[in-house]
Amino acid sequence: MKTINIGILGYGVVGAGVAKLLKQKKQLLESRTGAVLNLMTIADIDTTTDRGLDLGTTALVSDAYKIIDDPAIDIVVETIGGETIARQFILKALENKKHVVTANKALLAGYGNDLVKTARKNLVDLAFEASCGGCMPIIKSLRESLVANNIKSMSAILNGTCNYILTKISKDGSSFEDALKDAQDLGYAEAEPSLDIDGFDTAHKLAILNSLAHGMEINLKDIHVEGIRNITPVDIEFARSFGYTIKLLAIGKFHDDHVEARVHPTMISDSNPLSHVDKSMNAIVIDADATGQTMLYGHGAGMMPTASAVLSDIADIARNIILGIKRRVPILGYPEDNIKIIPILPMKELYTRYYLRFEAQDHPGVLAKISGILGENNISIKSVHQKGRNSNGKVPVVMITHIAKEAWVQKALKQISKTDSVIGDPVVIRIEEIAQE
Ligand code: HSE
Repeated sequence: MKTINIGILGYGVVGAGVAKLLKQKKQLLESRTGAVLNLMTIADIDTTTDRGLDLGTTALVSDAYKIIDDPAIDIVVETIGGETIARQFILKALENKKHVVTANKALLAGYGNDLVKTARKNLVDLAFEASCGGCMPIIKSLRESLVANNIKSMSAILNGTCNYILTKISKDGSSFEDALKDAQDLGYAEAEPSLDIDGFDTAHKLAILNSLAHGMEINLKDIHVEGIRNITPVDIEFARSFGYTIKLLAIGKFHDDHVEARVHPTMISDSNPLSHVDKSMNAIVIDADATGQTMLYGHGAGMMPTASAVLSDIADIARNIILGIKRRVPILGYPEDNIKIIPILPMKELYTRYYLRFEAQDHPGVLAKISGILGENNISIKSVHQKGRNSNGKVPVVMITHIAKEAWVQKALKQISKTDSVIGDPVVIRIEEIAQE
């Protein structure tokens, strides 16, 4: 049986998970791939901490180049994360004609187009199933299983930390801070949790998925991103009373000459299956023309789910090596020459429905003033809801709009904020309806 030599860069949680699964599943992997997947070397600056693994013949070294420059290594697995040193290592490994497997969504979202070009030039593979949605097989689904489909839209929960926080606030009445602390203790959050709660981690994943879905260059910079810091229990309570749940969604929609790509807290009705995806779980609903709606659900983070996704890439590459072929499936799902630049719709051009919450003065004429400004800006109100007066004499007023243009809404809100009818900035949450089959 052919032996395929693997090196892992980074011996943290994911790296250790990959090492563990390679050892634990040795026989299963051999029988499924027809190859011996030999973990030859692991590199990490920390070579002393006990990770509780018997490495056997695997070398643990502190110098990453002992893997990157080793002619015997076939596949380099990058589990370091970040965009600096990991980028250098991956580029060098590709130039050294090694196949690379990575879970690094920030790197792919920021520099993926260049990495793909380098892999192509050197005729090697770059695989990243673990970069989006953990163990949900979303990358291979878009690249392979849905190959005969035009992808009309994707709506997804792609950040376990945010979903955990929103679930804890909604179901247990936790504070934002307590829920975040829990998520960190449970190991879901990024080293820098603002990447999670400000929506950037989700945007990284959406940039990758949009590329695979539509054959477009990876474009992170034009994705509209909002996080969950401003979501309060009051909004969650209002949402519940309307039969809605608030989720941080990644939304990607294809139109004839552009795509929508946005990440923001979104109100979805209880009939949308994503509204029932709780705690740290991830899920995606893909609406495609031949299949209709398909939903994937699974663990978006964690040692073994992430390792499982990494191993699926290693197995793909091993199968190619055994057949003496390379790059059987194009890295972004389309041969590189067919990848286009497709513009992302500027947010101000978006049409959707809105939940608007104002902290209003409890004076006669205030509602008329707010609705008057909305009307002058073309925004039609579907319903108005008001809760009792707060101890400070202010009243939370919620308005649900019919479909309106983002530019109109932003202009109206600026005008309303300048009046003496409201205190502070209004809360704006977009409402998303799931396409009916
Ligand atoms: N920080 C991410 C999350 C981990 O919370 O989902 C997986 O990308």
